[in-house]
Amino acid sequence: MSGQRKIILDTDPGVGIPGTDADDPIALLLALSDPRLDLLAVTTTFGNCPPELGARGAGAVLAAAGRADVPVAIGDSVPLSGVLPALLVEAYAGARGRPGRVDLPMASDVVAHQSAAELIVQLVRDNPNEVTIVAIGPQTNIARALELDPEIADLLAGIVFMGGALGLDPVYGRGNITPVAECNIWFDPLAAKRVFESGIDLTMVSLDVTNPNTGLVLQDSAIRALDPTRSPVAEILAQVCTTYLDAPMFDWAPGCVLYDPLAIAVAADPGVCVTKHMSLSVETSGSLTLGQTVPIRDAKPNVRVCVDVDGARVVDELVATILTYGDHRKDRS
Ligand code: RIB
Ligand code: CA
Repeated sequence: MSGQRKIILDTDPGVGIPGTDADDPIALLLALSDPRLDLLAVTTTFGNCPPELGARGAGAVLAAAGRADVPVAIGDSVPLSGVLPALLVEAYAGARGRPGRVDLPMASDVVAHQSAAELIVQLVRDNPNEVTIVAIGPQTNIARALELDPEIADLLAGIVFMGGALGLDPVYGRGNITPVAECNIWFDPLAAKRVFESGIDLTMVSLDVTNPNTGLVLQDSAIRALDPTRSPVAEILAQVCTTYLDAPMFDWAPGCVLYDPLAIAVAADPGVCVTKHMSLSVETSGSLTLGQTVPIRDAKPNVRVCVDVDGARVVDELVATILTYGDHRKDRS
């Protein structure tokens, strides 16, 4: 379809893996389902699970959705510092290092031979000024791609990322992994700082809007009401959400907070959030404040920050979009 926005989804999807967030696989389903988006590739990063496992899950979701043509590339398994945070080492030694409960066929041939950074560079070069990266995990792959080919900074249409916390929401905007830092930034603050300083058009979807106060929660009652027999995609949605209800990562709400899907919704329609242009940087050395996203006074704005959203409406719309995905495909065939 013409007029679609070309996106690369850089993600850490723990598909049905107990103890991981359900939002990455939901974001992938939305990226596939939203007719305004053209998903060029999925690149995987560490976070919810190791990137190899994320690629396996993403490949299986793509195959189940009839989109095994979308390439998947595996990214770095450690942050730019070279050291995986101890809490992830421990988590990956347990359930978060093993395939999840979602029973999906494995499509090994969808995994590209290139690294995530190489695939990002190739796609941006092939589609100058047309590609938006939607980054919903630590930003290591983007930093590596910029290292490999710094000129892509001028060839990208933009980056929409889920990450950071600015304290704009007094309850949830203060961080989820430390009192001041959000996980995606905290897991690789050096990478995030490079992205913040890259000059690329950046849109930030932070904890200030991805929280129960904006209504951005797929409620447990709505999850229980999903009909998994409706389509393969509905089945995946139901399975990843019920796995999350059994083993939640955060206890912010009775249901799934849809952090990452909001980044996809913003890529499809930037008007979905109210934004404010701000000057931001990332703390990379503070012993108490590592990974904090910090406003810089009197400096040139470098990030469009989402400051308000009707989260409940976004949730209703995105669930409807995902659930009608099979219908659109049937209509086209
Ligand atoms: O802080 C929220 C982010 O970390 C999301 O990307 C989610 O997937 C989580 O693990
Ligand atoms: Ca994520």
